[in-house]
Amino acid sequence: MRYSIKSGAIEKVAADCLVVPVWGKSALSTEASHLEKVSDKALGVVIKSGDFSGKLGETSLLYKTSGVSARRILLVGLGERKKLNARAAAKMLEATAKAVAKTQSESAHYAMASVEITDRDTTWLAARVAQELEDACYRYDTTKSQKVTKPALKSLSITAPAGARRKGLEDVLKQGQAIGKAINRAKQLGNLPGNVCTPTFLANEAQVLAAKNKSIATQILSEKQMARLGMGSLLSVAAGSAEEAKLIVLNYQGANSSSRPYVLVGKGITFDTGGISLKQPAAMDEMKFDMCGAASVVATMGCVAELKLPINVIGIVAAAENMPGSKATKPGDIVTSMSGKTIEILNTDAEGRLVLCDALTYAERFKPRTIIDIATLTGAAVAAFGSQANVMLSNDDKLAQTLVQCGEESLDRAWQLPLWDEYQSLLNSNFADIANIGGPRAGTITAACFLSRFTEKQKWAHLDIAGSAWQSGAQKGATGRPVGMLMQYLMTQKA
Ligand code: BES
Ligand code: MN
Ligand code: ZN
Repeated sequence: MRYSIKSGAIEKVAADCLVVPVWGKSALSTEASHLEKVSDKALGVVIKSGDFSGKLGETSLLYKTSGVSARRILLVGLGERKKLNARAAAKMLEATAKAVAKTQSESAHYAMASVEITDRDTTWLAARVAQELEDACYRYDTTKSQKVTKPALKSLSITAPAGARRKGLEDVLKQGQAIGKAINRAKQLGNLPGNVCTPTFLANEAQVLAAKNKSIATQILSEKQMARLGMGSLLSVAAGSAEEAKLIVLNYQGANSSSRPYVLVGKGITFDTGGISLKQPAAMDEMKFDMCGAASVVATMGCVAELKLPINVIGIVAAAENMPGSKATKPGDIVTSMSGKTIEILNTDAEGRLVLCDALTYAERFKPRTIIDIATLTGAAVAAFGSQANVMLSNDDKLAQTLVQCGEESLDRAWQLPLWDEYQSLLNSNFADIANIGGPRAGTITAACFLSRFTEKQKWAHLDIAGSAWQSGAQKGATGRPVGMLMQYLMTQKA
């Protein structure tokens, strides 16, 4: 998609679709009342019909309007002025993007310069326009023999709000577009089936990314190399699978090489059967999404490089397939992690923490400023929060606060759970330093407690995205979360 800024009279814009906002209860926006005048009351006709009243996210199409160059006008409802905060505006922009994408328009112009968002500045809307549009134009058809028709839209322009600098607007459009595209990349990786998106496939994806971006270097560790490093925990997860595990390292350099990096670690279980502690068959297909943490890391790294952020960032993906097999790890088996700590594997379905702990130990060598792991780790996170929250736990209050704030800013929300010491004893083992499960209660917290044993020296946060990363049901599919939140975090950090 091409993005631009157009000035001049909106009725003269030669776009296939001209998007014009209307406030709730049919109160015409500045742009709408201007069009009403030049079009001989074309909008009034629609409004008087009662079919459209400007409710938030409501849309209505008008064709061949006299006095207007655009082929279509799309009226969009903004709802109540006082209630148009960022969250409402994003909903409105999503509905707008979907409505535009449904038409055959190849070009669209958003005439929304007068729209004020209660809790954001003027450039925010432009960035979000681009992000929502990219997001809404995503279609999955990779593994369908009948390709779906993609939205025809190729270019989008906006009217600059009064006082906004052109360069600033161009920058935020680019930013919103990059984030939207990264969200789509994460969705795409998540949606691919487990027989396509294997650890090797993910490693390949990382290599492609590095080939396309000079600022990214990549290193792929084989099982042999991991064995030499003593990653007995990560390797125990892959033991029952014919697919080779990979530790994928993406190294983005946007600052001086001496500048300590921000490190992201993603859970990349390309399919989670549960292993010998086999899962129930119902909805097991959804365990192809168990690499959505990894997908968010790969997509975020690509976005960071595209936006040339002036910091250093390292993305690590712990990729493996969790299968039962004659060589699979059995309940009661004890493995030694790279940290030297021994782990009693009481449930092979608690595999995410087993791959993450070795990746977290490996990350220490980069002397991270902060380290954030992203993982579809526990069903308990889904039970507690549904799809709304990225569930966050941290050993550093400041980092936790920053992440919650970044969640609010990006509308990709996080909510913190406690990491109190009192929970740690649930992981006691009679036979090893630590057990990999903490019983049926407080599952999201005990999973994080397990990880905390491997990040004692780091400023670390854990994002359990089991609920937020994909949707179940008829609209089943990956959501691309928490790319928005991770980008918000990295865009506001310094070298
Ligand atoms: N990938 C799952 C977590 C999951 C389950 C995400 C359901 C989304 C929906 C993870 O590997 C897992 O199986 N976790 C277990 C841990 C338990 C055995 C301690 C869980 O949550 O049931
Ligand atoms: Mn599992
Ligand atoms: Zn899993």
